[in-house]
Parts: sequence; structure tokens; C-alpha cells
Amino acid sequence: METLKEVFGRDLSKYEEEAEEISLELSRKLGNSFPYALTKQKRIILYAVVKQCNPEIVIETGVGPGVSSTMILSALERGVLHSIDVREKLENGMALGFLVPERLRGKWRLHIGRSIDVLANLVREIEVDIFLHDSEHTFENVMFELRTVWDHLRTGGIIFIDNLDFTDAPRTFVKEKKVRLYRLSEEAGGFGMIVKEAR
Ligand SMILES: C[S@@+](CC[C@H](N)C(=O)[O-])C[C@H]1O[C@@H](n2cnc3c(N)ncnc32)[C@H](O)[C@@H]1O
Repeated sequence: METLKEVFGRDLSKYEEEAEEISLELSRKLGNSFPYALTKQKRIILYAVVKQCNPEIVIETGVGPGVSSTMILSALERGVLHSIDVREKLENGMALGFLVPERLRGKWRLHIGRSIDVLANLVREIEVDIFLHDSEHTFENVMFELRTVWDHLRTGGIIFIDNLDFTDAPRTFVKEKKVRLYRLSEEAGGFGMIVKEAR
């Protein structure tokens, strides 16, 4: 497992306190519901990296109650977050992404549909700075998302993969592209990161 300090060559712990505060507020609202939402350590990592990279375009697949969306949007100083999810209503009847505060929604673009139907069109005209996969963790879908985004990821751009161990797709993908897969958390099947280095 690697730390953000090892990957980025600098200490990102200065963002931890604010990330923890936001995460705590989310946990208070969630209680025991939505156990599949992004776990605490991953929330802090995601927030710190978005802060550090100051991205213009972030894309995520898999919104659920909106934990990852809230962490990303809270860290975004400029730019927008595009979020893709297949449904508008969650299993308990709440709206998709209900956790995202009203004040952050101006920089949030929600796309409803399967990622396989939405993602390719979305990235066609844009350069992606950060991508988070947290939707359907099948081999086919993860491969599709990673390959589709890769061609539109800017040099220095970052891909996060939640539930890393749920399929072999992340490992197959990094072999295919001859890039490194960092493992940043062991929580809930792992959290992976790939950086698109200059070639
Ligand atoms: C693990 S949850 C996402 C949790 C969210 N990232 C969070 O931190 O709160 C997975 C979500 O992916 C959505 N999903 C499942 N298959 C999908 C697909 N093929 N395309 C897009 N979204 C999908 C589900 O509807 C669900 O809301």
C-alpha cells in the first residue's frame, strides 16, 4: 500500500482536518444507511487530491447517496463535477445524491443512465482531470470506463477506482497501458489510483 506523500512527493495532510469535518457531517446524516458509500479514509484521500490538483473537470460514476460527490464538490475551487448514475431514486425512496448540499449544486452536473451509455458521449469534447469509478464493478464495465476515460484524461490526470479488488479489470488495465496501480486504502475492497504520466 502507498501513501499520498509517496505518490505526490509532498505532504497532503494539511487537507485532512477539513476533509474529516465534512466526512463526519456526512456520517451523521447517513447513520447506518448506505454502507456501500465511500468509506472515511477514501473520502479524505479524494478530498486531498482534488484540493491539491485544483481540477477543471472531474467525472465520477456511481453517485448513490452522494458521499463521494460531496467530498469532490467541497474540494473543487473551480470547474465542475460530472456524475453518472443509472437511477434517480435510491432504494429507500430518497433522491440520488440527496447528501449534496444546495450551495454546491451549481457546479454539479448529474447524468442519468448506465455509464456504458453516457460516458463516451460525455468525454468526447472534454479533457478530464480526475475520474472516479464507483458504479458497476463488473470486469466489462470497469474495463469500459477505464479505457474510455483514459483517451480523454490529460497528462498528469488521475483515475481513482473504488472496490479495487472486486474485479481483475484494474490490474488488466494497468498491464495493458503499462502504468502503475497505486493502492491507497484497504477499506472495503481497496482504493486504487492511476496517474497518467507524460510519455
Ligand atoms: C457504491 S454506489 C456509489 C456510492 C457513492 N460513490 C458514494 O460515495 O456515496 C454505486 C452506484 O452506482 C450506480 N450504478 C450501478 N451500475 C451502474 C452503471 N452501470 N452505470 C452507472 N451507475 C451505476 C448505482 O445506482 C449506485 O447508486
